[in-house]
Amino acid sequence: MRDVAAAGASTGPRVLPRNDPRQYDDLAGEWWRPDGAFAMLHWLAEARAALVPPATRPGALLVDLGCGAGLLAPHLAGKGYRHVGVDLTRSALVQAAEHGVRVVQGDATAVPLPDGCADVVSAGELLEHVPAWPRAVAEACRLLRPGGVLVLDTLNDTALARLVAVRIAERLPTVPRGIHDPRLFVDARALVAECARHGVDLRLRGIRPQVRGMLAWLLRRARASRTVGAVPAGRAPRIVPTRSTAVLYQGRGVRKG
Ligand SMILES: C[S@@+](CC[C@H](N)C(=O)[O-])C[C@H]1O[C@@H](n2cnc3c(N)ncnc32)[C@H](O)[C@@H]1O
Repeated sequence: MRDVAAAGASTGPRVLPRNDPRQYDDLAGEWWRPDGAFAMLHWLAEARAALVPPATRPGALLVDLGCGAGLLAPHLAGKGYRHVGVDLTRSALVQAAEHGVRVVQGDATAVPLPDGCADVVSAGELLEHVPAWPRAVAEACRLLRPGGVLVLDTLNDTALARLVAVRIAERLPTVPRGIHDPRLFVDARALVAECARHGVDLRLRGIRPQVRGMLAWLLRRARASRTVGAVPAGRAPRIVPTRSTAVLYQGRGVRKG
């Protein structure tokens, strides 16, 4: 696909193909800005962390595949895990380490960690960026110990997801333009089947940002762009369950013994 992203590098925008991982380098300054280009990842991280149970043993390990800059870390505080993050993007890993994540630069389809090492594996907003997503799923399941928990969220391979997550969301300040290649979106049934093949019974539910919170956030952003000086921070929109998995969905499953 020759659709391109105009990412905001300090030397002027450079044009990259959709889903090109170098976009994360160009957007490196955005990760930890709560109202920045990755704002929605903050909201999703909070919702994902809610699926993570408290650790049941000392030294329990949570492996965060495609951890980015470690946005999950603050939401795991007090749950009792060592948080190890795996990502391709070095500029993101540097920031994850600054937030207490032990980082490993690597590919989620070939993770340099041993079988069964993880009490929890998280794959937040990752699979829809991986051309061979079933390999990343196989790796996630391989890393889990029996009884370990897989948590993830991703975008469904539907016309509605392509409309909402690409055509609409990439025109809003919630999602960087060109970050998704809709050809990589993840069919929900195929994902459940792939997890089952690797011993994880994945349960899905649809999720979405709360509408009122989202509108208030967009208004605040618009006001901030017209105002000189600081606009007071407001509450971030919450991610809430929705009946349909047709666009954005979460999954949680336990690895069989
Ligand atoms: C949309 S971001 C999500 C980051 C993080 N999980 C979060 O929710 O804040 C996708 C991340 O996946 C990483 N990524 C993409 N393909 C990858 C792969 N094959 N292996 C490891 N990381 C990958 C990117 O570098 C980026 O940091």
